[in-house]
Amino acid sequence: MRAVVFSRYGDESVLELTRRPSPEPADGEILIEVRAAGVNPVDWKHREGAVRSDRPFPLGMGWDVAGVVRTTVPGGPAIGEAVYGMLPLPYGGAYQELAVLPISAVAPKPVRLSYAEAAAVPLAALTAWQALEAAGTKAGLRVLVHAGAGGVGHFAVQFARHLGAHVTATASARNLDFLRRLGVDEAVDRMHTGLSAADPFDVVLDTVGGPVQQASWRLLRPGGTLITLPEPLDEAHRLPGINARRVIVTPDGETLHRIGTLIDSGVVHVEVQAVLPLEEAAEAHRISAEGRVRGKLALSL
Ligand SMILES: NC(=O)c1ccc[n+]([C@@H]2O[C@H](COP(=O)([O-])OP(=O)(O)OC[C@H]3O[C@@H](n4cnc5c(N)ncnc54)[C@H](OP(=O)(O)O)[C@@H]3O)[C@@H](O)[C@H]2O)c1
Repeated sequence: MRAVVFSRYGDESVLELTRRPSPEPADGEILIEVRAAGVNPVDWKHREGAVRSDRPFPLGMGWDVAGVVRTTVPGGPAIGEAVYGMLPLPYGGAYQELAVLPISAVAPKPVRLSYAEAAAVPLAALTAWQALEAAGTKAGLRVLVHAGAGGVGHFAVQFARHLGAHVTATASARNLDFLRRLGVDEAVDRMHTGLSAADPFDVVLDTVGGPVQQASWRLLRPGGTLITLPEPLDEAHRLPGINARRVIVTPDGETLHRIGTLIDSGVVHVEVQAVLPLEEAAEAHRISAEGRVRGKLALSL
C-alpha cells in the first residue's frame, strides 16, 4: 500500500511517500481502506520528535481516518460501511491506504460529510468534547475558548453553545465573523482582547499555551476551571482556588457517534480550510505548523 512514513525525526523533508506492507488487524481491530486522513498539530510534533512512540522506524503518520471497512470483527461495522475514527496515541498510521483501528475507536461516518470532512473531525472534536466534559461545562456557565477558529476551538465553541453555555472565543480579526457564524456570544480579537478579571469565566479552554495559559488563570472566577491542551500546567503561574488540569485526548467511538449525530442534524459545522492530496503531506504539515489554519486540514487518498 502507499503510505507516508518517516525514518528519522526532523522537518517536513523527512516525510516519505513509499510502499509499505498492509497492517494486520489484531484482536478487536478492524481494517479500514482510508479515503482521507485528518491533519493535526500533533502530527508534525510527532515528526519533530516531541511526541515519540516506542516502535522502530519507519513510523506511520497521523491519527484521523475516514474510509471504508475492509475487515471486521463480531459486533463491528459491516464490511463496506463508511466509518471514521481516531487511532490511539502515540502510534500514528493514518496517512496510508489501509489503517487498523480498535473497534471501540470508530463510528459511522456522518452522512452529510465527505470523507475529507469526516477525517477532519475525530481527534480535534474528541479533544474539545473531553476538555469541556472535564471542566463540567453546562448550561449557564461562562466559557472562554482560546483560538476558537482552530481545529479544536471551532468544535469546542459549538459544543459549548449546544450545552447552553455562554461562549466567548478569541481569534485574529479575520476570523471574528467566522466565530459569530459558529454561534459564539462574544468574538474577541486576540490582539486587543480587553479580557479582564472584571467579568470572570467559569471555564477557560487554553488551546495555545505559553502566555495565553499564563493569562488565563486571572480570567477565572474562584472555583473556576482551566483546561490546557498543548502543554503541561505552568505551576509557577497557578492561582489558589482555581481548578486546573491538562486533558490528553483518547479515542472514543461512542462519543464520535454522538458527535456524528450532531453534525448530521446540522448542529455542528465542520470547517475544512483545505484538502491536499496524500503526496502533499509535507505541505500540509508546513501550513499546520504556521498556526493559522481555520478549522482543519485533510489529506485525500
Ligand atoms: N492534549 C491533547 O490531547 C491535544 C489534542 C488536540 C490538540 N492539542 C494541542 O492544542 C493546540 C491546538 O490544536 P488545534 O488542532 O486546535 O490547532 P490549530 O487548528 O492549528 O490552531 C490554529 C488556530 O489557532 C489560532 N491561534 C494561533 N495563535 C493564537 C493565539 N496566540 N491566540 C489565539 N488563537 C491563536 C489561529 O487563529 P487566528 O489565525 O485567528 O489567530 C488558528 O485558527 C495544539 O498545540 C495541539 O497540539 C492537544
